Amino acid sequence: MNRKSKIKTLGLFLFCRQGYEKDCAAEIQQVARNLRIPAYCKTIENSAYVQFICTDPNYDAAVLFEQVQFDQLIFTRQWFAITSELAELSDNNRLFDIEANVHSLNIKYSDVLWEVPDTDELKPLNRLTKSLNQISSKSNSFNFSDKHESNNVLHICFIGSTHCLIGFSPSNCTHPNSAGIMHLKLPHQAPSRSMLKLDEALRTFYPRRKQNQILKKGMCAVDLGAAPGGWTWLLTQYGVQVVAIDNGALETTLNESKLVTHIKTDAYKYSPEFPVDWLVADIADKPSRVFELIELWLENNWARNLIFILKLPMLQRFKFLNEHIINRLKEISQQEPNRRLCMKQLSHDRNEITIALLKT
Ligand SMILES: C[S@@+](CC[C@H](N)C(=O)[O-])C[C@H]1O[C@@H](n2cnc3c(N)ncnc32)[C@H](O)[C@@H]1O
Repeated sequence: MNRKSKIKTLGLFLFCRQGYEKDCAAEIQQVARNLRIPAYCKTIENSAYVQFICTDPNYDAAVLFEQVQFDQLIFTRQWFAITSELAELSDNNRLFDIEANVHSLNIKYSDVLWEVPDTDELKPLNRLTKSLNQISSKSNSFNFSDKHESNNVLHICFIGSTHCLIGFSPSNCTHPNSAGIMHLKLPHQAPSRSMLKLDEALRTFYPRRKQNQILKKGMCAVDLGAAPGGWTWLLTQYGVQVVAIDNGALETTLNESKLVTHIKTDAYKYSPEFPVDWLVADIADKPSRVFELIELWLENNWARNLIFILKLPMLQRFKFLNEHIINRLKEISQQEPNRRLCMKQLSHDRNEITIALLKT
């Protein structure tokens, strides 16, 4: 393993859901332990970020960009390697200090993200970063390289009104949105806000492909735990035929749709008549029970692609996932190399995570 990156860094900055700092830290530390990288994490409760620091000068935290698959880091929504911390920016000329620091770093980058951890307390800083972004692009503050010359993204992250951290990440393992937050609009016809979870999962796990290639007319899907029907509705927007399984009621327009068959039954008692293109599942139940059901679908090859939610009501979410879910999922995806595994707590996920097993 190459232990050092070309640029000396102070550690990694990881964005996560507010309240999930310990899980995010436990996960990255486990990854580092597996790679035998000596490191520790600094966490502040409810800050929505974690700092990961290597303790051995022979290692640089930025090597994790090469060693870890970003879409398999569950609790990290966005990350960058920290090159500098500016704790006392001048109140009326922040951009001047930032520009001077970035120029002194001597790194190449082809894009910039202005970021703020996702907490209610820090929300007002988004207005500040928006305006700094506008001013800096008007005044050409930064020297962007061509994409073929550098694939680095420059990150400028505010954790206070005069306190920011600067760093970089390779674009191929960077979330395209600031702090890993996808801002999606709920269509007024959608039966539930849950629809946004599936929409975000599809956009995140298939970033470079068109949605209408992976979901199209003629395909069949099963939606387990479908009511009131947000996921079913989204699938029908692509012309996909959906069998919706839930004892609860679906929104009336879905019952009228020729694309939807609602079966009022228990998801654990249902099996499909023939293998389907998609299994999607958002069942409000214990995660171990839902996962057993997913394993049954996998063993029987009942679906080509699977996207499912695991609720995490417990306190130590990473510990639970590590002991009961992650290794099994990795085993499954290794047995079938043409099945890609993605696991993430997406920005529309609440106390839950989204897992996808997708045919490549
Ligand atoms: C979060 S809601 C699903 C929302 C849905 N994805 C949407 O977009 O509208 C969870 C659903 O799981 C269903 N559910 C819980 N246990 C179930 C079971 N054993 N079989 C089928 N559905 C179940 C509930 O009835 C509830 O409608």
